[in-house]
Amino acid sequence: MQAKLNGALGEALKAATVVPVLTIEDAGDGVEIARALHKGGLNLIEITLRTPAAAEVIRRISTQVREVNVGAGTVLDPDDAAKAIAAGARFIVSPGMTPRLLEAAETWQIPYLPGAATASEAMALADLGYRVLKFFPALPAGGVTYLKALAAPLPGVMFCPTGGVDAGNAADFLALPNVVAVGGSWVAPEKEVRAKDWLAISALAHQAAGLRIKD
Ligand code: 3PG
Repeated sequence: MQAKLNGALGEALKAATVVPVLTIEDAGDGVEIARALHKGGLNLIEITLRTPAAAEVIRRISTQVREVNVGAGTVLDPDDAAKAIAAGARFIVSPGMTPRLLEAAETWQIPYLPGAATASEAMALADLGYRVLKFFPALPAGGVTYLKALAAPLPGVMFCPTGGVDAGNAADFLALPNVVAVGGSWVAPEKEVRAKDWLAISALAHQAAGLRIKD
């Protein structure tokens, strides 16, 4: 079941190209940020479960900004996932993978994007049917050169690199044959969020949406 859902998420990621990864402290900001990103052309966003407000942020975006496809990131165990799903998350992302998460994922009705940073991890996930993976932490793990080296031996596996991706290197990642999309926090920087500068966030999103992969 997850293999199919994971494949569908791959299609959504490809259409989105850039996935804003947001760690939001104030639940009141979430809806504004989601609207600003949507206005800029980015419609698929990941809310990390790293703040006490995260579940409420997901709940508000999923009900108030329905045109945005909101998922939960930094999901570390099945309880995190259950909380995110109850809040309305439409997909689940984790920085790595664990046997418990993989087992629980089979019961979810929404797609799972597990993380991998090595050939062995990617092979183990591909064996289970996961063909679209988060590559994390993209830059510290070896960046564009490393990911490029995985393309030939693992032709059936596609990645969404996240962690250190920004406006300066996103296009280099997106040019790789095994990259379906990139993720990162650069489209909604802390400074702009604190200043509630939603126009600036829309402008950054618009710039990022311009990176869209052309078929
Ligand atoms: C993640 O949670 O995927 C990353 O921490 C986002 O990384 P970035 O802040 O370097 O974009």
